[in-house]
Amino acid sequence: MDNQELIRIALSARDAAYAPYSGFAVGAALLCKSGKIYTGCNIESRSFSPTCCAERTAFFKAISEGEREFLTIAVVGGRKDSADFGICTPCGVCRQVMSEFCEKDFTIILSDSRFNFKTMKLEELLPFGFELN
Ligand code: THU
Repeated sequence: MDNQELIRIALSARDAAYAPYSGFAVGAALLCKSGKIYTGCNIESRSFSPTCCAERTAFFKAISEGEREFLTIAVVGGRKDSADFGICTPCGVCRQVMSEFCEKDFTIILSDSRFNFKTMKLEELLPFGFELN
């Protein structure tokens, strides 16, 4: 599974985003060590706080199917009505959820709509995540 293919899957997952309030559509594709890929999109709520980000949708789908080991996630996001958008970084809540299940070297692929991407490690995006000591 190469980065471009995972981005393509994330872009396709973005098509299912339910984002009538923000108008911002996000897609994610999560590659598990098992080789399986779980997709996610953002799902908004009219009362706002129940909104689930694309990354967490993908993680929760995977975890609920028994997956516990993860390699990479590709994330894409931009205005719903735009085919041309820049990179979108995961929010703090999603970074914290990633840290629950992933090692520091978990790879996050951040891509724009044209497959220009960069990769980051979880420890770069969340250097001081919450820990129970
Ligand atoms: N969103 C995501 O899906 N992932 C993120 O990491 C940041 C934000 C969604 C939530 C909401 O539906 C919309 O983008 C605007 O905040």
